[in-house]
Amino acid sequence: MSLFITFEGPDGSGKSTQISLTAQYLQNLGHNVLLTREPGGSRIGDQIRTVLHDVTNTEMDPRAEVLLYSASRAQLVAQVILPHLQAGGVVVCDRYADSTFAYQGFGRQLDFEALQLITAFATQALKPDITIYLDLEVEQGLQRKVSANSAGKGELNRMDRLAVDFHRRVRQGYLEMARAEPERWLVINACDTVDNVQQQIRQRLGMQLGIKSQAAG
Ligand code: TMP
Repeated sequence: MSLFITFEGPDGSGKSTQISLTAQYLQNLGHNVLLTREPGGSRIGDQIRTVLHDVTNTEMDPRAEVLLYSASRAQLVAQVILPHLQAGGVVVCDRYADSTFAYQGFGRQLDFEALQLITAFATQALKPDITIYLDLEVEQGLQRKVSANSAGKGELNRMDRLAVDFHRRVRQGYLEMARAEPERWLVINACDTVDNVQQQIRQRLGMQLGIKSQAAG
């Protein structure tokens, strides 16, 4: 049974830990799980990721930025995600199109309709079944990321260096998108313990797997 799960959240929200716990959990249930991430996840996508994350690329135009994220996504969907879903597998993706709406739409305030058109084209209109958003106060997220970076863990990318106001708009954007589509989104307080966050994710996945297997049977 195919299932497409995406994780979103501000930088420093504990996303990576929850993603690997979730993938492990689904694997233990016997699903064929593919773990991937954006930008990147394919050979071409990883090359695009390097350009996007290069902190010296300060002159990058926001339109070029959105097209690069979308180019990486188009490659990932066509080469990796769709074939795995078509073979009946589960895909867990670290960020997906909602990052573009949050960062380039709400954050950079690019035209939303243009972003929707570009995204539908890049993704062949593929949408996630579930999107898990790990919500964290902006200052806390940035603080966690800066401390990790000074301890030699994790990179500070071009987006991390943007103003706090930008990250506030991104967070409000995520919350607004989640409110608009509650059947797809699960919003979790990222300050909760790792175990509690994982529990909430498993509960929601259980419901979704139940719904999907009923539909298949
Ligand atoms: P990460 O690897 O730490 O998740 O960093 C990816 C960064 O790229 C993060 O700051 C969010 C940003 N991003 C966008 O601005 N738009 C997008 O479409 C995607 C996928 C990521």
